[in-house]
Amino acid sequence: MKKLIIINGPNLNLLGTREPEIYGSLSFTEFLDEVKGKYPNVDIDYYQSNVEGELINKLQEVGFSYDGIILNAAAYTHTSVAIGDAINAIKTPVVEVHISNTFSREEFRHTSYISPNAKGVILGFGLQSYELAIQSFI
Ligand code: DQA
Repeated sequence: MKKLIIINGPNLNLLGTREPEIYGSLSFTEFLDEVKGKYPNVDIDYYQSNVEGELINKLQEVGFSYDGIILNAAAYTHTSVAIGDAINAIKTPVVEVHISNTFSREEFRHTSYISPNAKGVILGFGLQSYELAIQSFI
């Protein structure tokens, strides 16, 4: 059984209530239950933190044993050299995802410290971006 983890960065714990016109009105736990039901043959873990160092600790913890990491680093995408470095330092491939199309938004969201080190990038499909990332690993 493939072992994947979804890692969500800051403010994504508020999905469902946070700017629903951009991020939708489904909570991540509701979405995750649904997606886990659809892929019973994939082991999908979930981790969320608002703290940059905790995201790096998690990447290091899972990055030598899991089959795939699905990472939405949220705002840290656009600022974190350290998360970009962590992806290079581990063995497990990382697929970068975003709910919104960051290229159709403010200019500062057009830069990603994750993309150069990611296996691939999926963005702009709402929560379905995560499902597409799961499919990329199976
Ligand atoms: C986001 C896009 C980021 O620019 C933003 O800071 C987020 C969410 C997305 O999933 O669309 O928090 O990563």
